[in-house]
Amino acid sequence: MATTIIEPFRIKSVEPLRFTTGEQRLRILAQAFYNPFLIRADDVLIDLLTDSGTSAMSSRQWAAMMEGDESYAGSRSFYRFEAAVKKITGMKNIIPTHQGRASEKILFTITGGKGKCFLSNTLFDTTRANIEFSGAEGIDLLTEEGRQPATVAPFKGNIDLAAMEATIRERGAGQIAMCIITITNNSGGGQPVSMENIRAAGRICKKYGILFFIDACRFAENCYFIKQREEGYASKSIQEIAGELFSYVDGCTMSAKKDAFANIGGFLALNDDELTQACRNLLVITEGFPTYGGLAGRDLEAIAVGLEEIIDEHYLKYRIRSMEYIGEKLAAEGIPFVKPMGGHAVYLDARAFLPQIPLQQYPGLALSNALYIEGGIRSVEIGSLMFGKYAADGSLIPAQMELVRLAIPRRVYTQSHIDYVTEIIIDVFKKRKELGGYEIVYEAPLLRHFTAKMKPVG
Ligand code: F0G
Repeated sequence: MATTIIEPFRIKSVEPLRFTTGEQRLRILAQAFYNPFLIRADDVLIDLLTDSGTSAMSSRQWAAMMEGDESYAGSRSFYRFEAAVKKITGMKNIIPTHQGRASEKILFTITGGKGKCFLSNTLFDTTRANIEFSGAEGIDLLTEEGRQPATVAPFKGNIDLAAMEATIRERGAGQIAMCIITITNNSGGGQPVSMENIRAAGRICKKYGILFFIDACRFAENCYFIKQREEGYASKSIQEIAGELFSYVDGCTMSAKKDAFANIGGFLALNDDELTQACRNLLVITEGFPTYGGLAGRDLEAIAVGLEEIIDEHYLKYRIRSMEYIGEKLAAEGIPFVKPMGGHAVYLDARAFLPQIPLQQYPGLALSNALYIEGGIRSVEIGSLMFGKYAADGSLIPAQMELVRLAIPRRVYTQSHIDYVTEIIIDVFKKRKELGGYEIVYEAPLLRHFTAKMKPVG
């Protein structure tokens, strides 16, 4: 009997790749100040910078886009979109936004501010930045096992419930703007959060009268992990699992650029009418009228169809299995990465990969750049360049982990692309002792990794 889990689609439209030589890539990287964000996409062979907005849309999505109703107010496409979001989340009020961080900006402007803090398993970088921009503080309370790349556990994205309650007591419930759990935990290796953890966190929030939100970017992948790994969910549909999960929270922020297969878009879904009204008021002056929120009618259509397609179990089975496939190949070569494999990306452990490079010289960036030079693969550092802070004496306070993320866009690359990627990682691993670190030449005050200019040390 055939056991191969095949791509549950066939390809109707293709986009050629552009090849470069190693010598060209050395020059391109230098011109980009050794920051992969500053490389032109045309100079990248396999682009694993992000799984955000990079999915391949289905023929049904493209067809729906032609049906987009571009009316300013009350567009038919909005009502399709609203129904699709309600079906998944069960939330009462749905607010479209142009992407996830716009939802964050609106929600945190209203709920955040000086003196407030936000509790999370791990905040994504834009999420943290929006919290801090409001004047509030973001506190990551990931469980101990989630912070150990080599430890294998089913739900390494869980929030530490004891630490959560202790922080609420210490700060006072009135100071906590909300608890927001990221599913899957992007910055912590794409690891899932269990239903039990969400249920328990919800109970704590209720006990102290604190808002409880989900950063739902990759909710479908998380629900599939629950189905696979948590007792009692094996025979439930993804729709049912998502329904239960969202029933424990007051609302969610969402980037439709991930688990909605859209190239742009997002939403805020919430139950409280007063909070919704405040969000809508801000939406009108920053994003657009409440029935389009910064999106074209055609984008709303693409998201509505994408949300139906993402919960298809043939798709999710293929998605999660193809991630495991990469993990098996890397593990066989002894390459250090976050285990078990997460839902959307490989996270190489740069600290273990390049132990000779001090954290002050950004081993994650060194590894990411080496993958580009070796094979034209673009990845992203999720370490001290992204999350590092400075102490009062100007020294670097490093991030918890030094990771390099290779995010796999949805439905875009085939198995042979992935085989090529793992071969390049293995080639770089063989040369790892020759690699050196980087220093910062320029950095912006917020989200510095996007625009930082770097140079090799020595
Ligand atoms: N939350 C999480 C967990 C994310 O991964 C992202 C985006 C956002 C919020 C913000 O959404 O981009 O639509 O504004 N993550 C992308 C990434 C950029 O590469 O992981 P957005």
